[in-house]
Amino acid sequence: MLMKINPLVSVLHLYDVVNTPGVTSDISHMDTAAVVRGFLGQNQLEDALTGMDLVIIPAGVPRKPGMTRDDLFNINAGIVKTLCEAIAKRCPKAIVNVISNPVNSTVPIAAEVFKRAGTYDPKRLLGVTMLDVVRANTFVAEVLGLDPRDVDVPVVGGHAGITILPLLSQVKPHSSFTTKEIEYLTDRIQNGGTEVVEAKAGAGSATLSMAYAAVKFADACLRALKGEADVIQCAYVDSQVTELPFFASKVRLGRDGVVEFLPLGPLSDYERASLEKAKKELATSVEKGVAFIRK
Ligand code: LMR
Repeated sequence: MLMKINPLVSVLHLYDVVNTPGVTSDISHMDTAAVVRGFLGQNQLEDALTGMDLVIIPAGVPRKPGMTRDDLFNINAGIVKTLCEAIAKRCPKAIVNVISNPVNSTVPIAAEVFKRAGTYDPKRLLGVTMLDVVRANTFVAEVLGLDPRDVDVPVVGGHAGITILPLLSQVKPHSSFTTKEIEYLTDRIQNGGTEVVEAKAGAGSATLSMAYAAVKFADACLRALKGEADVIQCAYVDSQVTELPFFASKVRLGRDGVVEFLPLGPLSDYERASLEKAKKELATSVEKGVAFIRK
C-alpha cells in the first residue's frame, strides 16, 4: 500500500503464495499513478519479476517470543534462494532490497545465488537495516527531547542483536550522552525488534514500522535510480569497510546501486569494543548463509 502511494512507482507487481488477488484488487482502487498487478503462486513468480527495476523481499516467517532472527534461517533461507533464482533469470539488473530475516545471512545467500547464475553485481544487492536507523532516531530523540525527524543516528554492523551498532558518538545534531544513556540506548536499539515480538505475544514481529522503514529505504533507492545526487543511507552490503565480506554502514546510492562507501568515522572506545563483538557474530552469520548455497 505504501509503495502504491509512492509517486516514483509506475508499475507495482505484488507477488505471494497466498492472498495476492484480494490485496491487488483492494490496492488497485487507490487513486495514485502506479499500475498494480498481482501474481499468485510460484508458477507466476517469474512473470512478477519481469521488467522490474527494484525488488523488495519481505517474504518469510516472523519470530515468536523467545526466538532469535537466526531461528528463522531454516525456512526463510530457502524462500530467499527461490526468489533470487527467479530474479537472476528475469530482472538481473534490478536493485534488490532484502528484508527477510536473518538479514545477516539472507543477503550472503542472495549473493551466492546471483554468483552461481553469473549475474552478481554487489552494488545492486542491499540488506535493509533502515528499521534500526528509524528506531535509533526515535529513541535518541526521546532522550534528547527532539523531533525524531531532526535526528540522524548512523547504525552499522548488521541486523540482529549485538550486530546492530548505533554510533551514538556521531549523532546529528551533535550530542553527548552519559554512560547510562549510551547503555540504555544501545540496548533498546539492539533489542527493538524483540520488544515488538514480545508485545505481539506470538502474533508476529514488527510489520507497520518495518513497512514504514522498508518504504523509506525503497524510496531512497528509487530517487537514486532516477538520478538524485547525495542519497546516503545505511545498508547491509558487500563491503570493504571492515575485513568482513558483508557489513552495514552508510553508503551513497546512485543509478547503479551503491556508488560509494562512507568511512565509519571516529569511534568511541565503547563503540570500538562493541564493533569487535559484532564482527564475530556477523562472520558466523555470513558463513552460514554462504554454506547454505555452496553445500
Ligand atoms: C525487526 O527488527 O523488527 C525485524 O527484523 C523483525 C524481527 O524479527 O525483529
